[in-house]
Amino acid sequence: MATPAPLPLVVRRGAGTPLPAQLAAQVRELVTRGTLSSGTRLPSSRALAADLGVSRAVAEQAYEQLLAEGWLEARRGSGTFVAAVSPAGRPHPRPTPRPAASAEPVIRLGTGTPWIDPRQQAGWRRAWRDVAHADPPTGYPDPAGLPEVRAAIAAYVARTRGLDCGPDEVLVTLGTGDGLRHLLPTLPPGAVAFEDPGYRAAVAACEFAGRRVHDLPVDAEGASVEALAAMPDDVRAVYVTPAHQHPTGITMSAGRRLALLEEVRRRNACVVEDDYDSEFRYDVAPLPALATLDPERVVHLGTASKSVSPGLRLGWLVADSGLVAEIAERRDLAHDVPSWPAQRAWLSMLRDGHVDKLVRSARRVYAARAGLVVAALSPYGQIGQPVAGMYLTLALPGDVVEAVTRDCLAAGFDVPSLAETTRSSPRTGLVVGFGGVSDEELARALDVLTTALTTALARHT
Ligand SMILES: Cc1ncc(COP(=O)(O)O)c(C=O)c1O
Repeated sequence: MATPAPLPLVVRRGAGTPLPAQLAAQVRELVTRGTLSSGTRLPSSRALAADLGVSRAVAEQAYEQLLAEGWLEARRGSGTFVAAVSPAGRPHPRPTPRPAASAEPVIRLGTGTPWIDPRQQAGWRRAWRDVAHADPPTGYPDPAGLPEVRAAIAAYVARTRGLDCGPDEVLVTLGTGDGLRHLLPTLPPGAVAFEDPGYRAAVAACEFAGRRVHDLPVDAEGASVEALAAMPDDVRAVYVTPAHQHPTGITMSAGRRLALLEEVRRRNACVVEDDYDSEFRYDVAPLPALATLDPERVVHLGTASKSVSPGLRLGWLVADSGLVAEIAERRDLAHDVPSWPAQRAWLSMLRDGHVDKLVRSARRVYAARAGLVVAALSPYGQIGQPVAGMYLTLALPGDVVEAVTRDCLAAGFDVPSLAETTRSSPRTGLVVGFGGVSDEELARALDVLTTALTTALARHT
């Protein structure tokens, strides 16, 4: 019998994964991809070990694992073979990772990554120490959220958003998206209007729930009520970001808020207020939440994703207590309840002022960074209202956007295009996020952007 060819395996010492697991994973991949077809004879464990410079025990352990999983079979007296695995039983082959074009990782100027003050880490650790010192709960937490957390959130939204509500009107969620997902089945049947450009994750959640979506244009005062009024009567809910329209940055004017509520009442619909970025107004306090104007019609969604961390997965929904109870009942049935440790940690962060400190310092940093972005980019196009938040938009013709994003990517920066947030809106431009980068990275990104813009605009006629 011919000696089997050596296997194309690589051993990485110090990689943190035990060597037998490394070998097993690579052989498994060769089999699932079909590179090693069934019936192929593998080198003996002794030969494999000698090839790779590992002990024989390592090769044996890798083979034993794969024999146990059924990818290999041992034939007495003849060796180890690839088992007969039907192609249908094979997992989908994973595409071979392409080598990166440049050795430097690409830095994304994303819109969703906040700047979290590194000097405030003690507050984060204190909160989790607090969690660690408490006894674990023996049952599932309350499906509406822990009572003390609901009370603390009610006090927080009253203080920061002027929203007067009781704990029974607060539902603890895993964030804005989770709040929307829970809300959708309780809305009157019909379609939902979403701002366009707007928050695509919310649109996706709505479509996943089987609801039709209507695109609501945005003008200089926020979501267009005129366009809403022209929509069919079966549009029974409107999702808006009045504090800081995502992504244009427009604050919905007071007049527009009143007009929106009037139209919503006329069609017996409701508003979902995504209170996105309200904390991060640079100059003055944000306008009170839209829900303060009509708590019956407006469901308010808030999140700790931008103030504390998107990884915490904690947010809140403020609505009529009956609606909160209805959602809590569904959650209870599905055991779909928010995590106890995250709620406890958030409570501790709220109580000892950690959240306020984070918001204060992020607001200062965003204001300073927005100033840099405006100074660097305003000669090239119209910048969206620089009044709040962790990114700014720059309106540009479509071909310029294409050329600039390409040049920036080649220089190591991924700058989102406004197209990532539009459906039928004709707006084109860039969205320059500055929350998830360091000062030095932002300075480099602005250099790269201005060079790319100069070149692209010179070519654009
Ligand atoms: C418009 C908008 N709303 C809300 C959120 C936060 O969502 P979540 O609370 O689900 O993390 C984001 C995140 O980027 C956003 O862009």
